[in-house]
Amino acid sequence: MTIKLNLIAAACENMGIGKNNNLPWRLKTEMAYFTKLTSTTEDASKKNIVIMGRRTWDSIPPKFKPLNNRINLVLSRSDLNLEGYTNTYSFKSLDDAIKELEENKFKGNYEHVWVVGGSFIYKESMESKNFYRLFLTRILKTFDCDTFFPPLGDNLELISLPDIPQETQEENGIKFEYKVYQNKNFKQF
Ligand SMILES: NC(=O)c1ccc[n+]([C@@H]2O[C@H](COP(=O)([O-])OP(=O)(O)OC[C@H]3O[C@@H](n4cnc5c(N)ncnc54)[C@H](OP(=O)(O)O)[C@@H]3O)[C@@H](O)[C@H]2O)c1
Repeated sequence: MTIKLNLIAAACENMGIGKNNNLPWRLKTEMAYFTKLTSTTEDASKKNIVIMGRRTWDSIPPKFKPLNNRINLVLSRSDLNLEGYTNTYSFKSLDDAIKELEENKFKGNYEHVWVVGGSFIYKESMESKNFYRLFLTRILKTFDCDTFFPPLGDNLELISLPDIPQETQEENGIKFEYKVYQNKNFKQF
């Protein structure tokens, strides 16, 4: 089975995604969009996978950890202590996580695979043959950031999907748009 990596990120006009290991903005509707997309499954008995770097894991407030109704995979080169967190596993590399998804523990028990950041994990995922789609919220404002989304490259095609709002959103005077890009080179194998 081909694992399809769906990336989801929000970036402002300078492609910034984070500051001081936090989000530079507070947009409740954007957060709700993230939660809905990454949580929704067609088969209620299954869960989606969310893959994130250790710093993104650290940035989630304790009361929201692990991301609920999703299987959390955290990438770290160290041995993480994730004891006490249900449905949460650590992997030493993205490839290890993909291999596990293809072969072992989660086989048949999950539906969609979402890569939720941060910077290097997005880059590695977009370079992977498993990279399928990028759900990118474009925030139409510049924020001071220290972490950035990697360059988009020329293998992406803007697509529209029925469940994704087309119109510009606005919250607290900040405008943003939901964009979806598909990897033109993705092949089912
Ligand atoms: N706007 C958005 O959509 C969005 C989404 C996610 C995150 N963010 C923001 O982005 C920032 C965090 O992102 P970040 O880029 O600094 O960090 P990150 O990618 O979340 O985490 C980096 C860590 O992941 C581990 N790691 C990275 N590559 C790995 C690999 N190939 N194999 C194994 N482990 C690997 C390492 O952990 P160890 O050091 O433990 O080895 C590394 O220090 C925060 O500000 C957060 O709020 C924004």
